[in-house]
Amino acid sequence: MIFFIVIVALFVAYFIVHRIFVHRKTFTGTAKLYGKTVIVTGGNTGIGKATATALAVRGARVILACRSKQKGEEAAKEIRTESGNDDVIFMQLDLASQKSIRSFAETFLKTEPRLDLLINNAGLAAAGRTEDGIGMILGVNHIGPFLLTNLLLERLKECAPSRVVNVSSCGHDLGTIDFDCINTHKKLGLGSSDGDLFRAYTHSKLCNVLFTHELAKRLEGTNVTCYSLHPGSVRSELGRDITEWHARVLLTVVSKFFATDPVSGAQTTLYCSLQDGIEHLSGRYFSDCQLVQVKAEARDDGVAKKLWEVSEKLCGMA
Ligand SMILES: NC(=O)c1ccc[n+]([C@@H]2O[C@H](COP(=O)([O-])OP(=O)(O)OC[C@H]3O[C@@H](n4cnc5c(N)ncnc54)[C@H](OP(=O)(O)O)[C@@H]3O)[C@@H](O)[C@H]2O)c1
Ligand SMILES: *[C@@H]1O[C@H](CO)[C@@H](O)[C@H](O)[C@H]1NC(C)=O
Ligand SMILES: *[C@@H]1O[C@H](CO)[C@@H](O)[C@H](O)[C@H]1NC(C)=O
Repeated sequence: MIFFIVIVALFVAYFIVHRIFVHRKTFTGTAKLYGKTVIVTGGNTGIGKATATALAVRGARVILACRSKQKGEEAAKEIRTESGNDDVIFMQLDLASQKSIRSFAETFLKTEPRLDLLINNAGLAAAGRTEDGIGMILGVNHIGPFLLTNLLLERLKECAPSRVVNVSSCGHDLGTIDFDCINTHKKLGLGSSDGDLFRAYTHSKLCNVLFTHELAKRLEGTNVTCYSLHPGSVRSELGRDITEWHARVLLTVVSKFFATDPVSGAQTTLYCSLQDGIEHLSGRYFSDCQLVQVKAEARDDGVAKKLWEVSEKLCGMA
């Protein structure tokens, strides 16, 4: 009998936890996107692919900006079939190479007259360095999108009202920015164990939130607005570089019982991209299709400005 009660109690507890922390609202807006062009970085899998598919269904011209030609073209084909929209194409972009980012932007600006929506979705938690010698996590999750966004900003302004959306993470709440480490090592933290990578990942996601904060200020009066967000806890390939066995076990349990599918994970990205009337909330952070207040460091004007300047230096813009 006791055993039975414990089992029932566990089920109920699981249901409640799932409902509160895992379950995601569905974005119900019906905006159509005919004649609009969107870029989704890392659109070949996971949350990015689900987002790109939803935007294609609404009629947008969708550019999948991915590092692998083979994966990108395959995904573009699948999305065309699934959405019934032929206007989905792959363009090569490796966020771990500033040369690749510049060449992507050059090709894009030459061949595409419009840009209505830029979704900085690609991200990872892996060791190593980018082609430019920057720590991989800082480079791909922050410096790469920073450079890309800046290179495309003029086109976004010409097409205003337009938006930039940054897929950050609630993990940013654990992050902090160590400018000494960035200056001396071009990294967000030292070490290469899974714990170190996780810490650097949370720091990089704090960078995303701070950038959105600073970018919104710089965009005041342009009708280009920007948002950062947490997609939820989502089953995807994000944990692929985790190697230590206990971390893998934890990840497997979490993704089996405490995570949703990429379609649910795309809902807040869609909300920030398409919801009418949130323009006055430019620069803010969202989760589960609603505004969330971030901690003080994540909206500190001084830190945001300093990070912007360091980032300009790291990608040769200053
Ligand atoms: N899953 C979650 O629970 C969760 C929670 C919070 C935040 N997020 C954020 O959500 C975003 C999407 O993640 P996901 O969960 O969908 O992960 P995912 O399945 O691993 O997808 C990540 C995407 O980023 C791409 N990417 C990685 N490095 C790149 C580079 N150097 N250049 C261009 N593209 C690159 C990957 O391309 P390849 O396939 O070629 O590697 C892939 O398309 C990330 O920013 C992540 O931090 C996820
Ligand atoms: C997104 O994040 C990148 C890197 O952190 C930043 O450069 C860019 O300005 C951000 N854009 C928005 C809309 O927050
Ligand atoms: C921004 O949009 C408003 C309302 O549509 C318009 O009046 C204003 O001229 C626009 N500003 C710019 C810089 O495009």
